[in-house]
Order: sequence, then structure tokens, then C-alpha cells
Amino acid sequence: MSGRRDAGDYPTPPAIARVLATETLRALTPATSHGPLRILDPACGAGNLLRAVAACGSASHRADLLGVELDPGRAERARHALADAGSGGATIICADALLRPSPLRDGAFDAVVANPPFLSPTSRRGAIPAHTRAQLRARLGPSIAALTNIATVFLLDSLRLVRPGGRVGMILPTSFLTSRDATGARAQVLEEGTLEWLWTDGEGVFDAAVTVCGVVITRAGKPHTTIRRSAGRHAAPTGTSVFRPAAHVAGEQWRDSLHRIAPSSGSTIGDLTTPIAGFRRHYYALTAALSDAQSGTGMRVVTAGLIDPGRVLWGTIPARIAHRKWDRPRVDADALRSAGRVSAWLDAVTGPKAMLATQTRILECAVDPVGDVVPSVPVIALPASADRSWLIAAALCSPHLSRLAFDRHRGAALSPDAIKLSASEAADLPTPRRTGPWELAAVALADAAMAPTASDWRDALQRMAHHMDDAYGAAGAAGTHTWWVERLPRFKTGNAGAPPE
Ligand SMILES: C[S@@+](CC[C@H](N)C(=O)[O-])C[C@H]1O[C@@H](n2cnc3c(N)ncnc32)[C@H](O)[C@@H]1O
Repeated sequence: MSGRRDAGDYPTPPAIARVLATETLRALTPATSHGPLRILDPACGAGNLLRAVAACGSASHRADLLGVELDPGRAERARHALADAGSGGATIICADALLRPSPLRDGAFDAVVANPPFLSPTSRRGAIPAHTRAQLRARLGPSIAALTNIATVFLLDSLRLVRPGGRVGMILPTSFLTSRDATGARAQVLEEGTLEWLWTDGEGVFDAAVTVCGVVITRAGKPHTTIRRSAGRHAAPTGTSVFRPAAHVAGEQWRDSLHRIAPSSGSTIGDLTTPIAGFRRHYYALTAALSDAQSGTGMRVVTAGLIDPGRVLWGTIPARIAHRKWDRPRVDADALRSAGRVSAWLDAVTGPKAMLATQTRILECAVDPVGDVVPSVPVIALPASADRSWLIAAALCSPHLSRLAFDRHRGAALSPDAIKLSASEAADLPTPRRTGPWELAAVALADAAMAPTASDWRDALQRMAHHMDDAYGAAGAAGTHTWWVERLPRFKTGNAGAPPE
């Protein structure tokens, strides 16, 4: 084994160093308003990461850079490199950072950046000597065990070295995110800090036998629900994913999210409901029995134009049915049923359901949780209990399914830019593999249904979309997400047919 690999020394490629430094320093301010930002790299090697920090340092705050390096030759190289980079202010000391040389005190730094050694705990160099382990255990707690990877020790210690609100940006072996041995350490990290950003390699970026990731953690950060994500050799942004501390501790979410596009579950919308589209005769029977009543008792009739993602616009804007404008279209269900040939259809579509509009630029689905709506033709009804209807609607409103339906069925609609699905095509769309984020998406869609303003509506839809990206394992598909956002309809307001004052 080469000396370099034995020391676990894999220098950070410049592109990754740049993004890690930027994400760690993002909007970070010094603890004291006029002081400098105090930044430490406790395993600085020849100084790649500190140079990236110096290069992206903010114009408004000076930065005091400190590097610690065990190897005297590399420490010297770091001094030269930082002097060359115009960061003469950087101090490099040659010491064992884990033994806490004097400048390294709890809370002394605004940020730590590091690409610590990735030594296997079972290797000669990676095993932490018993006396050092005892010291570390006394300082960092019981997560330090015989098989703890030295990179994990650096992470736990770095979280102590930054002040509350300070950040740790670190390159780690991916096993930190998933291995059973690191469960205690993950729990500790997520107790002491909040995960802000995650980079997953996936392309073998490092010349290393291990796969790596990068994290940014804020010590005692504010609780939040999403993590910014980046991937690949340029650490390009790929959207966000849901932050679920319990799942992260268990390691299960990471195992999923390391696959940028997860395989689909093999289940489809048709496993949850039997989509129903009416025919011509239903349409004619319906229009013959319509009334436009301010306060009628008939069932509300909803056309495709009265459905936006998450919203039923009945009573908000008028509908167009049979070349006429209807402010509050209703139908007397008993009269319609007695028309005979439509009663089986009417029974099937009246009840709680999701409703899918057609001929739209993205899939637009809303929920009738009570079952007092008659979907006009060609709205597709997806009958299910109210809870299940929200799940079905969230899946159909996801950017992932809109893109899939657009690619599969482009050209079937009147406009080349619109999507037209038949009931069986809707049934064939896949459901997501992961139920946790799917349920969160259904809750967000219900928020969108109640949203009083355009911005509340769009915010709730964005939340829904992010959760659905996560549920489908499509968090890497940032292009799809942007495509979908650009095609969202405008928020419609109005007061169709308000009763006269
Ligand atoms: C992966 S290299 C990091 C290189 C550098 N951060 C970069 O981005 O290019 C890890 C470095 O940590 C140093 N190192 C290992 N254990 C250390 C310790 N206990 N204290 C300080 N430095 C250590 C190694 O000598 C090596 O130079």
C-alpha cells in the first residue's frame, strides 16, 4: 500500500474545494460584528481547502485562517501555498489536531473546513490508539468506539470547535452516512447540529478507494425540513431533499438518496384507484340537467378549467360548458340518475376522489374529499378514500409524473405543448417508492388547496414538489423541477356569481 493511501491522504479537487468552501461560508457572519471570521482546517495537508476559503472569503468580513497538519513537509507546503495565494495571514501549525493544540478550543471558530484522513479503523494507521481513544471518549462521548473511523472523530470534534451557529464543512467517506457502526455518531451529529448541504460523489471524483460525500452542518442550527443537494465532479446543485433526522440516523434515507434516480416501485396509480373518464353521452346528459344556481342544492359540476394543481376553482371563476359561461354550475343528481344510462357512471364518480384535468401544460389534479362534486367530461375521476385521494393527487401533481406523461403522450392533445391522458394512461403512471416523503407531499398539497394567496399557493406547491422529488428519488432531476415550475398556471382569483349584496 502506498504511503499516501496509508495516511488516508486524498487532496480535495479544486472544484469540490470551491463549492465546499462556498457552502460552508454561505451567509456566515463573525461572532463579533467587527471581528474577523475565524476559520480552521484541522487536517490541512498542503492547504487546498484553506486556499479555496481565502478565494471565496466575503468582501465584508476579514478571515483569520488557521491550518493544523501532522506532517511537517505538508505543513511547510501549506505555508507556501497560502502565502502564494495572497493569504499571508494564514497560520499553519504542525501538530496532531485531535490532541487539541492550544488554539483549538471549544467554540473558538466560526467555521471548520476539512477533508480529514479516511483511514479504515481496522488498518494499522487508522486504528486510534487506546490512550487517545480514552481522551477522545472523555471529550466527545460514547460514540467514539474501537471501530470509529478517524474522519468521524474529526467531524464530532469539529462540531465542538465551532461556536453555536458556526458551521462545519467536511468531506467524509460515504460510509459515514450509511454504516451501522456510525449510527451513534450520526445521532450525535444531528443532535448537536443541523444538516444544511449534502454533496454525493457518484462519479469517483477522488482518487480514492472509498466513495466520498461532503456535508455542511450548522452547530445548533435552526430546525428545517430541507437539505440543499449537489452531486458529481463539479458538485453542481441538484435541488433539495427532505431532512428527516430519524431516518438519517438510521442511515436508510441516505441509502436511498445516494441513488440519484431510484428505481420505481413497480406499482402504478391503477393499483390505488380505477380512473374513470366519462363519455359523450355522460356529457350530454350532464349539460341537459345543468343549472346555474347561486344557492342551489344540486351537486357542484367541475370542469377541467375549474381544476388547478391542488385547487378546485368552482365559485371562484366561471366555467365554460356547452359554449356558455356558468358561474356556479350545479346538477340535480336525482334528475340526472333518472335519465337512465348515466346512473352507473354517476354512482362511480360521486364520492371522495382525486380529479385530473386534461389538455393542460402540466398534470393538474385536485381533490374532492367530501364527494359532492360531479366531474364534467373530460375530467378524469380517481375515486378513493379522502386520505388516499390526497396521495394520488400529490403523485399526479409531481414534476416527475408531469414530465413522464409529457414525454409519453406529447402530441395527443389539441396543443402540442399540452398533455392529454386517457383514464388507462393515468392508471399506468408509476407511484413513488418511498412513502414518507409522499405523505409529506400530500399534506403540502392539502395546504395548497386552502392557500389564500398566490404566494402561499406556490410555496405549498413547491414544498409538495420537493417532497415528491424525494419520494420518486428524482431529487437529482433539477431540470425537470425547473421545467415544471415554469409551466405552473397563474393563481386565479375572482368571485364568480357572488350573490348580490
Ligand atoms: C486528505 S488529506 C487533506 C488534504 C487537504 N485538506 C486538502 O483538501 O487537500 C488529510 C491530511 O490530514 C493530515 N492528518 C492526519 N491526521 C491528522 C491529525 N491527527 N492532525 C492533523 N493532521 C492530520 C494528513 O497528514 C493529511 O495531510
